[in-house]
Amino acid sequence: MCGIIAYTGHRPAVPVIIQGLKSLEYRGYDSAGLCFCHLERLHLFRAAGKLHFLEQKLEGPQVLHATSGIGHTRWATHGLPNETNAHPHLDVHDNLALVHNGIIENYQQLKAMLIGTGCTFRSQTDTEVMVCLISHALNQHSSIRQALAWSLSQVQGSYAFALISRNHEGKVWAARKASPLILGAGTGENFVASDIPAFLPFTRNVVFLEDGELVEMDAGQWTVYDLSNLEPVSKQIQRIDWDVQSAQKGGYKHFMLKEIFEQPQVLTDCLAGRLDFKKYRVNLSELEGLPVPSRLHIMACGTSYHAGLWGRYVLESLARIPVNVEIASEFRYKELVDEPGALYLSISQSGETADTLAGQRMVRERGLPVLGLCNVVGSSVARESDRVLYTQAGPEISVASTKAMCSQLVMLYILALYWAQSRNVITPRDMMASLGTLESLAFTLDTQLPGMQKRAQEICPHYSKAQSFFFLGRGIYYPLALEGALKLKEISYIHAQGYPAGELKHGPIALIEPEVPTFALALDNFLLDKIGSNLMEVRARKGKIIALTNPGVQLEIDEKWEIPQLGDPLNSFLVLPALQLFAYEMAVYLGKDVDQPRNLAKSVTVE
Ligand code: F6R
Repeated sequence: MCGIIAYTGHRPAVPVIIQGLKSLEYRGYDSAGLCFCHLERLHLFRAAGKLHFLEQKLEGPQVLHATSGIGHTRWATHGLPNETNAHPHLDVHDNLALVHNGIIENYQQLKAMLIGTGCTFRSQTDTEVMVCLISHALNQHSSIRQALAWSLSQVQGSYAFALISRNHEGKVWAARKASPLILGAGTGENFVASDIPAFLPFTRNVVFLEDGELVEMDAGQWTVYDLSNLEPVSKQIQRIDWDVQSAQKGGYKHFMLKEIFEQPQVLTDCLAGRLDFKKYRVNLSELEGLPVPSRLHIMACGTSYHAGLWGRYVLESLARIPVNVEIASEFRYKELVDEPGALYLSISQSGETADTLAGQRMVRERGLPVLGLCNVVGSSVARESDRVLYTQAGPEISVASTKAMCSQLVMLYILALYWAQSRNVITPRDMMASLGTLESLAFTLDTQLPGMQKRAQEICPHYSKAQSFFFLGRGIYYPLALEGALKLKEISYIHAQGYPAGELKHGPIALIEPEVPTFALALDNFLLDKIGSNLMEVRARKGKIIALTNPGVQLEIDEKWEIPQLGDPLNSFLVLPALQLFAYEMAVYLGKDVDQPRNLAKSVTVE
């Protein structure tokens, strides 16, 4: 997830681009850059780190004169977050400059092809491959529009990009596929950007670009083309009446809600390039050459720890690899038992959690291998791991982690399928079924989220006076029960405890009374009868019960919350957002500070 902006108009472009990038910084801030054309030369400015480092570099008279240009704020995916890898990227002749948000999945093949034609590369990014491909295409096509159409037909993956040319000052080309891109249509000026706030101070007229569309614009006009035939497409201008503040949250009231609703996109991004439907395999090129472990030890904190517990179920059942999961703050003080063939998996959204980092340092000091599962590229966990799998959740701003866990679960599932295929313990039929469901998961979640939010809004007021909640689950839903309880605690300040449903009768059931409701994860699987009996025990003590379940399930409960049956473990990808929305709506109903709950910090870098 990166932020891009392009401007062409009557104002000095550089301040407009910088202002736009400031409002896009929430999409990443590993590096920033901009480029403009002046007197038939491209002028490039880039800096590692936050935007103010770029601002410090902007000098020279041409900075004041340019009236068009492109800008980028980066969330690193390919290549370290340094200046060389910062966007914009130029082609070998310094004729074209491009900013990009997304992932070019086949960039290695394209790079090899371009190297064969004599092209050289300056960065490790997939984006530079794209700009060089367009430059290469210009040898065979008479216009940039045609060169773009051909190049994009060669590219697999996701992109939103903007391009300028040394020979066409004042012109901008932009296109999208599976990454956001919006056109801002001003008077005597036009914009494209990853998000509306980037140009909202200048125009409220927007055009939502669709996948497979290309826009060509200058200060006075813009035209959208269908990339498949380069015919113009008629588009509607829509008027935005949000203020800048709410626009940064994409119109959502809180970042947490926005991030919950971003989970379908997170699934799409995490799965990009991973599912091979021709060979019915999953791709994890990051792990090539790494032996399949005989045992996996997972260490993590908080929500990431819950993801690890969930991962144990899929890794053991699919890949048949024994797994231990440890809270990192405990693990770091353990006596490690040497075990040949074991691998240590460190899970962290931020990659900077002190306990997780200390745990993995201890492991590496003993010469044992660590695999990082991490969201922030170049973070300490990533740098200090032998191998890294990046989750593609984009920056998570809300203190309560939501979309990061979704990305961790899907990557753990892919990891389990990958090792299952390496060990030959999954049948082609089961692999086909898993890939098929994974492919449609993002769409299913996207269609379900609005209804889920409505259901959470209906239920929460009836339980808002509760002093304490139980969250119960069995099997793979037990870690999600823990996560449901954590989310409720941290943002609504209602005490909550996650429990394996079968354990309730061994003590905690003493707490059940009408004011202590139970939220049960009673999905329709082989454990349904068991959890049904546990709920009868709760009911017998006059406990109120909300049950998240699948259609057709009969339970004696107070509130039934149905989600479609996706089977195990994929139901989890609907259960998780339901729990997040329940906590969110409860906190909103109780008037709590959802995005910045008391006493908490986003990244816990102290012990
Ligand atoms: C809960 C939450 C925390 C983090 C924990 C680990 O909503 O955000 O429990 O999950 O502090 O953080 P990372 O994953 O960055 O290591």
